[in-house]
Amino acid sequence: MRNYSQSGDTRVLPAGAPGEASGSLAARAPGGVQSIGEIVEVSGRGATGIFDKDAMDAIITAEDGDPLVGQIGSMVRIHVTGSYVYAIIRELKNASLNGGPMGLIAEMDFIGQGERFGAEQRTILFGRGVSKFPVPGDMVSNVRAEDVKAIFAPMGRAHVNIGSVYPHHTVNASILTDGMLSKHFAVLGSTGTGKSCTLALLVHRLSEQMPNGHIIILDPHDEYAAAFKEHAECINTDNLRLPYWMMNLEEHIEIVIGQRTPEREVEVDILKRSLLAARKEAAHDKDYGRFTVDTPIPYRLADLLKIIDQDMGRLDKAETIEPYLKLKSRIEELKGDDRYSFMFATVLARDNLPDVMSRVLRIPVNDKPVSIIGLAGVPSSIVDVVVSVLCRTVFDFAVWGRKANSRPVLLICEEAHRYIPEEAEVNYRSARKSIERIAKEGRKYGVSLGIVSQRPADLAESILSQCGTIFAMRMNNEKDQRFIENVMPEGADGMLAALPSLQNREAIIVGEGVTAPVRVLLDDLHEDLRPSSDDPKFSEVWRTDVEDPRYIEQAIKRWRSQSLEL
Ligand SMILES: Nc1ncnc2c1ncn2[C@@H]1O[C@H](COP(=O)(O)OP(=O)(O)OP(=O)(O)O)[C@@H](O)[C@H]1O
Ligand SMILES: [Mg+2]
Repeated sequence: MRNYSQSGDTRVLPAGAPGEASGSLAARAPGGVQSIGEIVEVSGRGATGIFDKDAMDAIITAEDGDPLVGQIGSMVRIHVTGSYVYAIIRELKNASLNGGPMGLIAEMDFIGQGERFGAEQRTILFGRGVSKFPVPGDMVSNVRAEDVKAIFAPMGRAHVNIGSVYPHHTVNASILTDGMLSKHFAVLGSTGTGKSCTLALLVHRLSEQMPNGHIIILDPHDEYAAAFKEHAECINTDNLRLPYWMMNLEEHIEIVIGQRTPEREVEVDILKRSLLAARKEAAHDKDYGRFTVDTPIPYRLADLLKIIDQDMGRLDKAETIEPYLKLKSRIEELKGDDRYSFMFATVLARDNLPDVMSRVLRIPVNDKPVSIIGLAGVPSSIVDVVVSVLCRTVFDFAVWGRKANSRPVLLICEEAHRYIPEEAEVNYRSARKSIERIAKEGRKYGVSLGIVSQRPADLAESILSQCGTIFAMRMNNEKDQRFIENVMPEGADGMLAALPSLQNREAIIVGEGVTAPVRVLLDDLHEDLRPSSDDPKFSEVWRTDVEDPRYIEQAIKRWRSQSLEL
């Protein structure tokens, strides 16, 4: 026994612990690994150990050494009788020994257990959770390639490879397809850290393996068309027909009335009555069965205006005529404005719901498993409603389509903080409601959500907490880091310490989509397969003058027509 002091208090170092005669702890342990310390305290989720700095240094400097052994976020193996428990180092403190060599107190979180089996017990079988806990005195050692392989082996489960495991980069980092897709996922990180490329990489790998998938990307910056080219159906305001009648009452209210007037309630009431009447009129000779004001039955805007007019002319009405006039003028405005024509053109009164669903959902797939919905051209005043209509109809379709051989769908929301913000005052927003519903119930109907955001702290926590897998890229903002810590499953705390110092293309992945929390160097995506979001090359562009004399003219033309295709 030896006394050592740490932050003023004095504890007792167990016999044979670091600081004993040099070399005793650096002895070779079974399996070719080297001891770096031993356990002194154990709890349900982790353990405290004492590490020998000299033993760690010996491994770091060895020829085939592990440069990161004993570092925060790295993995260790605890030798329990008959098996191994794997843990990640969360915290290290100095345990300066009285007069002796330096020791470290290490806090570790368990990630799982490995059993040896097979010929000569050479193979390790890894499982999540711990059934046989370590006890004080158990040896802690570094992990070797065999451990890393065992821990991250997909074990016959469907998977896609997206990179290599840090720091050795000899083991493939695989994502368990069903684990990730069945419980939603999120890609989070500061701007420019590679979220969109990670997403593109994932979608490429998924669709290479499963060419008949159904993946929808909501793309606010029109950057993904460049990544998928002929493998994707590119939908934008130039070619999208999203009829107004697909909106439910709430979306009608948001687009026609908004939050503006003190007489909002009266307007809502009139709109609700008139909308139901307009749908009824359109449905009278059709076989729609029972329906409500929310049912997507094609009605004519002219009918809606006529009904509002008739209502306004009633002598026994309780309301003044102002709310009627306001409603009418807003509907006329939506009808007449060219920027809204993809949604409010008169020709959209016919029933094209099957075409819209078939195109957006890729049914049949026709070699294009991805549909990219470019939202850059959608006027900002209605983009929220457009997202809401799309997400809600995808979900409703899954609910009503599940009887007939249902096809699971992955819906990806880029820049998700725009549509699903946390702030309470925007609670009324329909997009947030639609996405929240998918987050909560989508799994049961085969609708999976992929959330991408650079501002996790501004995202609705109720939605993020439903994400079973999290890809965390570099994150500098402390508020975001803390937020991520809260939504990360246990066992990953130590890895999160590395969040501010991750390189581009590096991610920490935790949750259902991986066999254990892992730090990954993502594959380098070929230029042709990346979203068009390259950082501007100031150093090159600023060397020469603008060559095209029509540069400004063309930009203004596109701006005015709200179309990038000119
Ligand atoms: N896996 C990768 N393969 C190749 N290049 C990558 C990869 N990841 C990131 N990059 C590079 O980093 C740049 C920024 O990546 P990306 O656009 O994905 O960042 P982002 O996190 O989506 O940024 P923003 O928050 O601004 O949307 C890319 O243009 C690309 O050059
Ligand atoms: Mg991006």
